Amino acid sequence: MRFKVTVLPGDGIGPEVTSEAVRVLQTVAAIHGYRFDFEEHAIGGGAIREFGSPLPTKTLDACLASDAVLLGAVGAPEYDRLPPNQRPEAGLLLLRRALGGYANLRPAVSYAPIAGCSPLRPEVSGGADILIVRELLGGLYFGEPRGFTGSNGTTVASNTMSYSVEEIERIARVAFEAARKRRGKVTSVDKANVLETSQLWRQTVTRISRDYPDVTLDHLYVDACAMHLIANPRRFDVVLTENLFGDILSDEAAVISGSLGMLASATIGGDVGLYEPVHGSAPDIAGQGIANPCGAIASAAMMLRHSGGLEQEACDIELAIEHVLEAGYRTPDIAAGTGGYLASTSEIGELVCQAVTEIADMRHAYHAV
Ligand code: NAD
Ligand code: IPM
Ligand code: MN
Repeated sequence: MRFKVTVLPGDGIGPEVTSEAVRVLQTVAAIHGYRFDFEEHAIGGGAIREFGSPLPTKTLDACLASDAVLLGAVGAPEYDRLPPNQRPEAGLLLLRRALGGYANLRPAVSYAPIAGCSPLRPEVSGGADILIVRELLGGLYFGEPRGFTGSNGTTVASNTMSYSVEEIERIARVAFEAARKRRGKVTSVDKANVLETSQLWRQTVTRISRDYPDVTLDHLYVDACAMHLIANPRRFDVVLTENLFGDILSDEAAVISGSLGMLASATIGGDVGLYEPVHGSAPDIAGQGIANPCGAIASAAMMLRHSGGLEQEACDIELAIEHVLEAGYRTPDIAAGTGGYLASTSEIGELVCQAVTEIADMRHAYHAV
């Protein structure tokens, strides 16, 4: 099997965590005799510095010509004063739109060995296993008109939130299909008590749910959902929501795992799948070798599952991450209250590679008898 991956390490801790994800993929390829071709390109702040654009044409062309894109993170404080369309983040948003993936899957899971590092009591977060299905190409992020206007010495800024029935239908179907393979429950999150977009969202999701009689649907307002998510995370299975709500709720859901560094994502439904950890470039810890690579590594697993059709290999990587946590190795963000040993970004990467190899050896031995 040949599989072409465009790797976009990006800014801050992006390159640190992405290189560990690539290392794990190389290990999987070596074990199974697959050929994964990696091609690295610039995006975000680094691309602005080198090419004067947060998404150079060369980067975009490479992404469009690949089987999947693996991204680290973009953004750095020195670009925070640029207008929205010139910032590193604009490069990521342009890429998302160009690749066409509208369904961003963001799992948030409580891992038993590190349950102690969550500010939630283990009896609250323990066993929680949520899949946030975030609409990724609509809403306030892309709505027109947008921008700054002003007269008489005052400035007005505006963004537009809009959703069409078709945009809601397609993301709703992704959530119901996912729920079918999980515990059969979708919670749709909106602000239908105030927003027209949310009223259309709720109506449309309710209509689509009739095609999935085996899946239970409930609705929550986003403000209440924010509370329930940490008060009783186990009440959730699949959370279906629009772009901005999904952005906010997924960072909040990281509290269930204990760190933003644990969360992975997959963006599917377009021509080329995009895989990136949920976290950002974390300028506060960049360059120290202490970033948690698990979210990036788990994103690589999602890539094998959704773009490579390699379910077994994806599961092996996920299991390997759990083994490393069970063995007690932790980056500082997941160390407090969990015991174990402090490990660097690259040590965790190396340990996951070892665990992947052991898991594959074990399966091989099992088949041999
Ligand atoms: P952030 O996610 O970068 O960091 C939030 C907090 O979580 C920080 O304290 C950070 O140290 C910690 N953290 C994040 N990832 C971690 C990891 N892997 N291991 C250990 N700790 C980790 O969010 P922010 O500080 O609000 O944003 C920083 C920059 O990243 C901004 O420019 C923002 O726009 C950008 N950003 C990019 C993406 C992306 O590229 N997908 C996502 C979110 C934010
Ligand atoms: C995320 C990030 C991005 C988003 C930014 C960097 C554009 O916060 O992937 O969660 O808001 O989607
Ligand atoms: Mn975010």
